[in-house]
Amino acid sequence: MIFLSHISCRSGLRIPAKEACAVARDRGIPIMLDGAHVAGQMPIDVRDIGCDFYSTCGHKWLLAPQGIGILYLREDRLKDVQVSWCGWGMDAGPELARAGGLDNNRLAFEPLQDARKFEYGTRPYALYGGLNAAIDMASEIGLEKIEARIRNLASRVKKQLSEVPGVRLLTPLDPGFSSGLVAFSHPGIKHPSPGQWLWEKHRTLVSHKPQDRWMRLSVSYYLLEEELDRTVDRLKSLADENA
Ligand SMILES: Cc1ncc(COP(=O)(O)O)c(C=O)c1O
Repeated sequence: MIFLSHISCRSGLRIPAKEACAVARDRGIPIMLDGAHVAGQMPIDVRDIGCDFYSTCGHKWLLAPQGIGILYLREDRLKDVQVSWCGWGMDAGPELARAGGLDNNRLAFEPLQDARKFEYGTRPYALYGGLNAAIDMASEIGLEKIEARIRNLASRVKKQLSEVPGVRLLTPLDPGFSSGLVAFSHPGIKHPSPGQWLWEKHRTLVSHKPQDRWMRLSVSYYLLEEELDRTVDRLKSLADENA
């Protein structure tokens, strides 16, 4: 089985997912894509991509509550995946009993054969509501529009960052191979933790690993150009302190 991140959280690379799936299919290898950083940034067409499995979460770019996600399985792969947890909700018994096919007081357990076989026990229904609302909001705005706005903002930030001395962009400039994740290393900035400095001094939250001199800006559609420009200016001021 092949498992790939559709967008890497570390480098911001967006892989050519359709091509990767075609390679896997040609060799008869099942392929799963992790789209944690894709849902909410751009439309996802799992049939067009051609993957067997696709997973994503709600709380990143979709702006849904934490603790809920989405798993897609291609229908003909359902039988290949065994459930590792069980509970009511995934038991076909009540359905069969209603149809008159089974005694509901039996001791046997008959898992449903569709994707509901993964939905066991009492679930976080309030989070389902939150995820639905987030999907509605993204759909109302339009994922194509969101993608285009993110592309413009990210291209602007990448261009500016590539001009900051001591900063090396890790995310490709090509929007076809990237998204709103803008990752870079900053070996030329001597501050022990520029990411922490951004948060403590400017209340700007970034993903960062000071020990690796690594930082990532998450450039989402609701950010303003001025906010991003300011962040780059602040990093530049840190870099200038070393000059
Ligand atoms: C690429 C990638 N996949 C998966 C995850 C984990 O997602 P979750 O916390 O919803 O399991 C993350 C993030 O934290 C991520 O960056």
